[in-house]
Amino acid sequence: MQPQNHKEKIIIIDFGSQVTKLIARRIRDLGVFSEIITIKDLNKIKDFNYIKGIILSGGPSTVTKKKYQSISKEVLLKKIPILGICYGLQLIATLFGGTVIATKKKREFGRANLYKKKKSLLIKNFFNTKHKSVWMSHQDAVVKLPKNFKVIASTKNSKLAIIENTTKKIYGIQFHPEVTHTEYGEKIFKNFIFLICKIKKKWNIISEKKILIAQIKQTVKKDKVICALSGGVDSSVVALLVNKAIRKNLICIMVDTGLMRKNEFKYSYNIFKKKYKLNVKLINASKVFFKRLKNISDPEKKRKIIGKLFIKIFENESKKFKNIKYLAQGTLYPDIIESRSVTGSQSSKIKSHHNVGGLPQKMNLRLIEPLKDFFKDEVRILGKSLGLEKKISNKHPFPGPGLAIRVIDKITPEKIKILQEADYIYINELISHKLYHKIWQAYAALLPMKTVGVMGDSRTYEYTCLLRAVTSEDGMSADYFNFPKEFLDKISNKIINGVPGINRVVYDITSKPPSTIELE
Ligand code: XMP
Repeated sequence: MQPQNHKEKIIIIDFGSQVTKLIARRIRDLGVFSEIITIKDLNKIKDFNYIKGIILSGGPSTVTKKKYQSISKEVLLKKIPILGICYGLQLIATLFGGTVIATKKKREFGRANLYKKKKSLLIKNFFNTKHKSVWMSHQDAVVKLPKNFKVIASTKNSKLAIIENTTKKIYGIQFHPEVTHTEYGEKIFKNFIFLICKIKKKWNIISEKKILIAQIKQTVKKDKVICALSGGVDSSVVALLVNKAIRKNLICIMVDTGLMRKNEFKYSYNIFKKKYKLNVKLINASKVFFKRLKNISDPEKKRKIIGKLFIKIFENESKKFKNIKYLAQGTLYPDIIESRSVTGSQSSKIKSHHNVGGLPQKMNLRLIEPLKDFFKDEVRILGKSLGLEKKISNKHPFPGPGLAIRVIDKITPEKIKILQEADYIYINELISHKLYHKIWQAYAALLPMKTVGVMGDSRTYEYTCLLRAVTSEDGMSADYFNFPKEFLDKISNKIINGVPGINRVVYDITSKPPSTIELE
């Protein structure tokens, strides 16, 4: 991916940390555009005029080995303010003559108390209490300051937890201000971008809307665009955006796999057809999906079957229209970041399941991916500003293979129906108890076992329904949601009384890791 050159921004050089994405999000949330780039991208930049600050991320590399990831020192001496985080700090220290060692004694994982040692713009108004709790995750430690650097703050194990060289405008911090476990971490980013980089707050996703629409118009001209519309947040926003640009030249295809939540498909179809008056073609393909999935238990096989079949149906349908030149897709920024390696090579790291929405290149259509620079939350805001129903723009994420990976083991239309009913009750209760928006993702799953129960005077032998609800920021890690006992009592009762086929309800209390959000 080429860095964008058209606006003032902060760039983040990605050394491979799991949380690099969060740095970009924090900065964008402050109203400043930020972009994650690789070292390779960095080497291609000729004009640094738009770059008002550079952040070096954390990462798994270590400067204590002979070979480690690095950038040219020249970049650091361009008088553009630099902030190194974790590995970024260690790299700065190494490049400027400090010492970094790998040490078991000084390593820190988890929370640490940070104490102020000296005044600095970077920590202005940060220490409103004697110390701040910050999140550490490092094995290597900077033990000797580079020349002309000063110590700003320390923890017990990291004397050099924040360092600075104000003349060169270079700053380094050992902890991670981007994670929510660091108390008040946002303040550090605020100070860096507004006080040190002196960039103005003028970016927001809504002001991008006009640019995006103009770009689509300019690219597509009088040609036709096709789009696979699922009714999820991303494809819905893409459809509305492209529609704003080219109106009837957008053709949306909705493939009903029979694996959606209860009533969802019908609801989305009606909204897009009647309310937004989009050019939508509906394909009912549930029979063929069930047929192909018959007797398949392996989750990866299910995904592959669904993905392939979806593509085949979509391809067949698109052939029925003439003069289609473009395919619009709801690829998001995290998909792009996660699909390349930190050394810059495009890798095939996207998990197979994330390719389900991805359509084949052999269709010979050019791609339009208007959301590829944005995070999910930004896309939700964009959707709202395009008039997208809140019910859609605020929807929890839903996996491409749908309920097929929530009916564990073999799938039948009957099991899907049972699950749809239980899930419907669960989600509606979450909404009516005002819990839905407090949760990142919630769903019901059907476990592949029957157990004995008693209802009235009769013995039952039926399925178990598992409920999942997690809080998360990006789906990479998650905690289970702590429901009040009364809610769990009520929901269990409602499901068992309302859904024939289920006689037991369990609540999943694992976080991610070690579990994943989905069961399959
Ligand atoms: P896991 O289960 O990997 O899920 O913790 C992380 C996020 O990804 C979603 N997910 C999928 N999305 N196709 C998708 O489009 C899939 O096959 C798939 N599997 C998981 C999951 O719902 C969660 O939001």
